[in-house]
Amino acid sequence: MKFSKVPHLKGEITIPGDKSISHRSVMFGSIAKGTTEITGFLQGADCLSTISCFQKMGVEIENLGSRVLVHGNGLHGLKAPSQVLDCGNSGTTTRLISGILSAQDFDVTLTGDESIQKRPMKRIMTPLSQMGADIRSIRDNGCAPLAIHGRPLHGIHYNSPVASAQVKSAILLAGLYAEGETKVTEPYVSRNHSELMLNHFGADVRTEGTTAIIQPARELYGCPVSVPGDISSAAFFLAAGLMVPGSEILIRHVGINPTRDGVIKVCQAMGGDVTLLNQRNDSGEPTADLLVRHSSLHGTEIGGAIIPTLIDELPMLAAMACFAEGETIIKDAAELKVKESNRIEVMVRNLSAMGADVTETEDGMIIRGGKPLHGAVIDSKLDHRIAMTFAVAGLCAEGETEILGAECVKISYPNFYEDLEMLAR
Ligand code: S3P
Repeated sequence: MKFSKVPHLKGEITIPGDKSISHRSVMFGSIAKGTTEITGFLQGADCLSTISCFQKMGVEIENLGSRVLVHGNGLHGLKAPSQVLDCGNSGTTTRLISGILSAQDFDVTLTGDESIQKRPMKRIMTPLSQMGADIRSIRDNGCAPLAIHGRPLHGIHYNSPVASAQVKSAILLAGLYAEGETKVTEPYVSRNHSELMLNHFGADVRTEGTTAIIQPARELYGCPVSVPGDISSAAFFLAAGLMVPGSEILIRHVGINPTRDGVIKVCQAMGGDVTLLNQRNDSGEPTADLLVRHSSLHGTEIGGAIIPTLIDELPMLAAMACFAEGETIIKDAAELKVKESNRIEVMVRNLSAMGADVTETEDGMIIRGGKPLHGAVIDSKLDHRIAMTFAVAGLCAEGETEILGAECVKISYPNFYEDLEMLAR
């Protein structure tokens, strides 16, 4: 795919469903009693991996495109799969499902693509083992494939060294099945979609500061879930609207959960003209329409408690910082190294190839903005967020930007390029 300057981006766009919420709606629907009707489900490859894993465990799931119907088997109704469960590229599928599978009365093997087989799984194996789980890395390298021998679990209080919703959710899901209460304390609050949705399904979850607490459940109950647009996908249009001169974009129905909205705050702190309109609520998740207009931007510092609330948006924010006057410091973001690619290394390499002044640090990067970028050949490393970031950067650079492996956007946003082109027309 090739990108070059466009005169402006104008129009309205409805963003596909939130990836985190879509995964959870299928998982929780599968272990609930009754039918869960999901609207706005993200038809991205990651969420389809989740559907396929639960179908292999005997759950009837009808994917009708605009609606997904999950006919749940109840908390104790999953069946032993006859094959290995393939989580594809999805860290959320692998880690959350491990929490559920640790407590079943059958054995299962989980695996995924090349990227998944390099991502750290000790972060869930350690707490789940403390709960009594038998979960092991088959190659003994702390990564998938994972062999899980389901067993009875007991509650723990886990002090997580990382602020990670995948780790927290894996433990909470295991906690549904455990004897006694389960608590997870994080250094900073990570996205709380599991807590909100589990309550919606009838579980007893509460939070105290950075601690989430769950009681064992007898049963969960299926219910309708309306999935808001994914703020992590909206971020590409937020940035594009701010960066491309003359742009004005209305991004409709975006989830603005306070554990996810860091990107809006940072855009505004950099001088970006972003307005929240029509604020409302969808299945307990706050949403809004976002109006974004081209703005002259300045650098900022991004670190500390805001990091988990914008972790997936940091590649886009780093590229945007190249178009802002002055210095932007991204720190406390070492987690970027263990995403679908090493996003610190990949961003620094690719931004440098476009002529940006950027320095890699231990836990982030420093970007000295205001220098025009030029087109380059960008290796996405098959990381969807890297591909989309550089498609947007390519709209503001001199000359042509070519993205290798551009099709990987199918993971979270299958129609991304079509939507971007529609706004450029
Ligand atoms: C996710 C949590 C985050 C995020 C990922 C989705 C989730 O990962 O980066 O894209 O749905 O729980 P971590 O839990 O590893 O921070």
